[in-house]
Amino acid sequence: MAKVAVKDGLNIGVLYLFAMLCSVTGIGVNWGTQASHPLPPDTIVKILRDNGFQRVKLFDADYGTLKALGKSGIEVMVGIPNDMLASVGGSMKAAEKWVAKNVSQHITSNNVNIRYVAVGNEPFLETYNGSYLGITFPALRNIQSALVKAGLGSQVKVTVPLNADVYSSSSGYPSGGDFRTDIHDLMLTIVNFLSVSGAPFTVNIYPFISLYSDPNFPVEYAFFDGNASPLNDGGMLYYNMFDANLDTLAYALQKNGFANLPIIVGEIGWPTDGDQNANIEYARRFNQGFMSHISGGRGTPMRPGPIDAYLFSLIDEDVKSIAPGNFERHWGTFTFDGQAKYPLNLGTTNSGALVPAKDVHYLEKKWCVMRPSARLDDPQVAPSVSYACGLADCTSLGYGTSCGNLDARGNISYAFNSYFQKNNQLEVACKFPNLSMITKIDPTPTVGNCKFQVMIQPYYESAAAQRYGFTLKQLGLVSVLILILLTVL
Ligand SMILES: *[C@@H]1O[C@H](CO)[C@@H](O)[C@H](O)[C@H]1NC(C)=O
Ligand SMILES: *[C@@H]1O[C@H](CO)[C@@H](O)[C@H](O)[C@H]1NC(C)=O
Ligand SMILES: *[C@@H]1O[C@H](CO)[C@@H](O)[C@H](O)[C@H]1NC(C)=O
Ligand SMILES: *[C@@H]1O[C@H](CO)[C@@H](O)[C@H](O)[C@H]1NC(C)=O
Repeated sequence: MAKVAVKDGLNIGVLYLFAMLCSVTGIGVNWGTQASHPLPPDTIVKILRDNGFQRVKLFDADYGTLKALGKSGIEVMVGIPNDMLASVGGSMKAAEKWVAKNVSQHITSNNVNIRYVAVGNEPFLETYNGSYLGITFPALRNIQSALVKAGLGSQVKVTVPLNADVYSSSSGYPSGGDFRTDIHDLMLTIVNFLSVSGAPFTVNIYPFISLYSDPNFPVEYAFFDGNASPLNDGGMLYYNMFDANLDTLAYALQKNGFANLPIIVGEIGWPTDGDQNANIEYARRFNQGFMSHISGGRGTPMRPGPIDAYLFSLIDEDVKSIAPGNFERHWGTFTFDGQAKYPLNLGTTNSGALVPAKDVHYLEKKWCVMRPSARLDDPQVAPSVSYACGLADCTSLGYGTSCGNLDARGNISYAFNSYFQKNNQLEVACKFPNLSMITKIDPTPTVGNCKFQVMIQPYYESAAAQRYGFTLKQLGLVSVLILILLTVL
């Protein structure tokens, strides 16, 4: 930029614009697809573009998803799921095939701007019992070789998105940061490989999970308002967990000789439901606070400068595993149907408000509810509710959630409706024995955030349908058949 001679006002204008574009690194976002009714990929790509997201992180390499991203200009991180690590790590041929099909082809034929390959997703989580410890590095190495062989070595970089549990601090201060002892050597092997390959370290940081798992965690320290009593690390004051956590990693890298390895924040965000601390107010406060915190490229004490981050996540996913907690299905800044949950200024659009999905096709305005004549003590109630909740989604029920204030009948109706909508409002999906009925009167309470949903029309070319060869309608019929069987028995 310094070499550009500034001759007149027009050039100054252009320069100013250029400088503005440079200083705004732009925010990325995670696009997960574990939804029973995913929006069409083109609709999602429109959301990404309308909101000025410049980068997107995927968890696999679904053909339709990547195709939709072609020509959008959006930078893409494609993912290799953990269950594919053994195959690409075990065979160079498999790695080459993966790169040919899921990277090269999309770059050449579909114009997709692929910049990173995420090899695995948090493969060293302690809950995986070490299943991926032996295979992650070979997979990383093979994919990197395959990229180089395909002539993409400088354009596409490898990385391994890791949970922040791969490092910790013995002193409790960032300066005490180092890699977890049980995987210390492995981490150094990986970090060295990333460094030699000119690739970044990717870490997922979750203050929400800290608050969720530790009732004594100071709430204010999770946010960015500067209201927490700071952590004093040898004179360096840390007012929020994000800075302290990222710097713990920075110290761990520095301690082991990799002070300059770039760091990407692969996931950061806050859920809106499914727990008492998961709500719209906190999610907005966290995400807006994070955006303001990183705007202007201030960075952290150890890593001043712009932070490359991907919000978690774009959209709710109603079939995610709830093993980690009921909040898992509520990380979206958008609801399953592409509506903004709260105002969020990403610094990318003029209005500062999120732009929702366009042309969303809903099913009819009808709901499945508990019959007014049905009795709460009917012995069929409990098994019916647990059946519905098991196959649909009741994570908005329970203490401190959006529908936590429903009465018993409301609870039951919520469960029935969730099952009915997930099954595309098939009439047989509202035949809980003598308990349920279809209504055109919206049962959504007039106060609060609890919503009795109306499902969107299934998108038949969905990834799951292509992959497994069945349609969502067939899926619905199968579960309805099971329901009928259960009822008969
Ligand atoms: C490409 O990625 C998809 C989605 O993750 C996967 O199912 C497929 O097996 C991959 N193709 C190859 C040739 O490995
Ligand atoms: C890990 O081990 C525990 C205890 O042995 C077991 O309950 C759990 O299912 C295992 N998890 C995985 C992902 O293998
Ligand atoms: C259905 O519910 C009504 C009202 O509670 C009751 O009188 C009737 O016996 C029930 N029928 C069956 C088949 O359970
Ligand atoms: C509603 O359901 C939730 C979760 O299943 C439960 O915790 C709560 O106690 C129920 N409320 C009533 C009034 O039945």
